[in-house]
Amino acid sequence: MATNTKLSVHESVEEGAALAKSKNCLGCHQIDAKRVGPGFVAVAKRYSSVDAPLDYLSGSLQRGGAGRWGAVPMPAQPHVSDADARQIAAWILSLPKQ
Ligand code: HEC
Repeated sequence: MATNTKLSVHESVEEGAALAKSKNCLGCHQIDAKRVGPGFVAVAKRYSSVDAPLDYLSGSLQRGGAGRWGAVPMPAQPHVSDADARQIAAWILSLPKQ
């Protein structure tokens, strides 16, 4: 059942994009291509139909982790607050998925 998941919260998407830049996420991630980590469009595609994708992704991007996309682990991001993580996650999930 691939229901189209709409965000029920009103995080600002533009703010999320700016945060991803200022928190250095884009040093390892590109929007539409793999870099060190997965492209954010691919992330949005993989998770937009899971339950509560915003909760999942905001937690996941703070914790970092390994083994979901390849051999390279992502370090935890303790400089990203809960609120900032949710805005970044909302932005990722809003990316157009062709
Ligand atoms: C040092 C490089 C690096 C930095 C900095 C980094 N990432 Fe990652 N990221 C990765 C790698 C590598 C993976 C894949 C990890 C895996 O395979 O599980 C990843 C995975 C992810 C995922 C997918 C997680 C999942 O559950 O599948 C998201 C979302 C993500 N990063 C967001 C971010 C955001 C937002 C930031 C900035 C706050 C950030 N990353 C900073 C390297 C990085």
